[in-house]
Amino acid sequence: MIQKPADTEQKIASIIAERWSGKAFDANRPVSDDTITALCEAALWAPSCYGDAPWRYVICNKYQDENAWQKTLESLAEGNQLWAVNAPLLIVTTSVTTFTHNNSENRWNGYDTGAASLNMCLQATAAGLMSHQMGGFDGQKLRNALQIPATVEIWSVIAIGYPAAADSLTAEELQQEQKARQRRPLAAHFFNSIWQEN
Ligand SMILES: Cc1cc2nc3c(=O)[nH]c(=O)nc-3n(C[C@H](O)[C@H](O)[C@H](O)COP(=O)(O)O)c2cc1C
Repeated sequence: MIQKPADTEQKIASIIAERWSGKAFDANRPVSDDTITALCEAALWAPSCYGDAPWRYVICNKYQDENAWQKTLESLAEGNQLWAVNAPLLIVTTSVTTFTHNNSENRWNGYDTGAASLNMCLQATAAGLMSHQMGGFDGQKLRNALQIPATVEIWSVIAIGYPAAADSLTAEELQQEQKARQRRPLAAHFFNSIWQEN
């Protein structure tokens, strides 16, 4: 399994450092129901505005409902399909856009749902799984295929599965998977006291 921990100035929690968006999944290794439940629990315990938990996830498990999984795969951008085809789980991230308690607009629904998705991805890392979120998909295709209401926002499809063993990859795939992860310098994102353009 390929590991690409974040290269950080200061030590950070290992689960955060170790999560990365690989593309080489093991298509022959299903994810157990208990592990899937743990992924859902992790997302459920994310914080949210008013504790409203606006996120809703549609879990498409190739080993349980190949039809739903296939339709979700086909809604992905072509470049994503090439590798996501090996991920046994394709999880569609959506959110409701109004608060449950008063039906008014919840303008934090995207913020909260991103937090829930990251919780899910970190839980995946903790379970030895790999996760890869995708924004490249055809939302209308997904709506039709999975009966997602028009009022519900669709944010991403998250591919989850066990990483493929490095020795099962072609030289080209291996090279791709081993590319260094990069971030801009801290100072480009974090400012002391006042906003800074850079
Ligand atoms: C909202 C969102 C959309 C993304 N869309 C895609 C995508 O369509 N295809 C893809 O290969 N990666 C996609 N990614 C993965 C990012 O490219 C990846 O997270 C980023 O390069 C940082 O790498 P890391 O996750 O390994 O740290 C997406 C990630 C997020 C959070």
